Amino acid sequence: LWEDVEMAPEDPILGVTLAYNKDTSAVKLNLGVGAYRTEEGKPFVLESVRKAEAILAADRSRNKEYLPITGLAAFNKLSRELILENDCPALVENRVATIQCLSGTGSLRVGADFLAAHYPNAAIYLPDPTWGNHKGIFPASGLCMKKYRYYNSQSRGLDIEGMIKDLKSAPSGSVVLLHGCAHNPTGVDPLPEQWEVIRQVIRDKGHLPFFDCAYQGFASGDLSQDAAAVRSFAGDGGELLIAQSFAKNMGLYGERVGALSVVCRSEVIAKKLESQVKIIIRKMYSSPPIHGASIVTTVLGDKELREEWMSELRGMANRIIQMRKQLYDALILRETPGDWSHILNQIGMFTYSGLNKEQVAVMTRDYHVYMTSNGRISMAGLSPSTVPHLADAIHAAVTG
Ligand code: LMR
Repeated sequence: LWEDVEMAPEDPILGVTLAYNKDTSAVKLNLGVGAYRTEEGKPFVLESVRKAEAILAADRSRNKEYLPITGLAAFNKLSRELILENDCPALVENRVATIQCLSGTGSLRVGADFLAAHYPNAAIYLPDPTWGNHKGIFPASGLCMKKYRYYNSQSRGLDIEGMIKDLKSAPSGSVVLLHGCAHNPTGVDPLPEQWEVIRQVIRDKGHLPFFDCAYQGFASGDLSQDAAAVRSFAGDGGELLIAQSFAKNMGLYGERVGALSVVCRSEVIAKKLESQVKIIIRKMYSSPPIHGASIVTTVLGDKELREEWMSELRGMANRIIQMRKQLYDALILRETPGDWSHILNQIGMFTYSGLNKEQVAVMTRDYHVYMTSNGRISMAGLSPSTVPHLADAIHAAVTG
């Protein structure tokens, strides 16, 4: 059996970590996967999370019973209140169905399966480029995948004209995948006034927006600022889907904790929709895990812990912004050919460097710097002590 099964390639992002783990060099640097590291390059567990875990461990009344199919109710409430504003009409009118899912990917996949069953004739339009896994998730659910222009490689900025044209020419009622903030991989986000134009086109065309919100608070350090685009769509009365992840902003990568929220036109519709999503989940994984959702609920539900978390979040976001400045300065110091201002201007965890596949290969071979072959650098994996090494590697790749 299975002799003819071909060996599949490693995942383009997660496979980078596997290659890094095999490297025995003392100077190796993993800037592949988007995961925050301490100044010493070690994984980081937030203090607010450690405290929440201590509270949970000390509580003998807690048990390990199954969660409902839709997850922890308190977690769902706190999650939707985090991404939307408290006075958001959709929340006040109880017309948001929120379902705890397995981090961002799981939330996207459950949303995609729901659309395949209950919105089956529309294609989903993804930005070009987009996070590699988007291109796996939606076809896996049976949705037809199309793309819209997003990034202009010449200007290293947003191709707003191309984007608007493509959204206008997409058939009415198409699903449009949007990155809530800190677009992955480009780090290029629409300006607030551009978001407004995008929103109007999407609503005029009767498209259905599906927001991937993996970085709330992680991009600017401000939870509201990073949720502004989603909130403007949620505030206009129309439908939208939101996939939320607590991997980055609470550092809960391996806990796989996130949520799918669907903003509906009425409470009755939201209830019916939730009942259908339950059927999808029951067949897929029955119900979600309890620990990560309990951590998030404890942190968000306690005033002091929540403040502490927000301050840690600002700390992580600021460190990343500082790394942008330091890397930029280091390349200027080395007189590395090229305009590197995009390192400063891009937003969030990643710098879309413009380095090509061959240059990335040189950096890995000669400098043990690991990153995805599309030239994306995880700034969250960088620290002041490793900036010079990365700058040397980029300089060599560009001049070599
Ligand atoms: C990334 O893009 O590096 C992260 O979102 C992690 C992942 O699952 O790919």
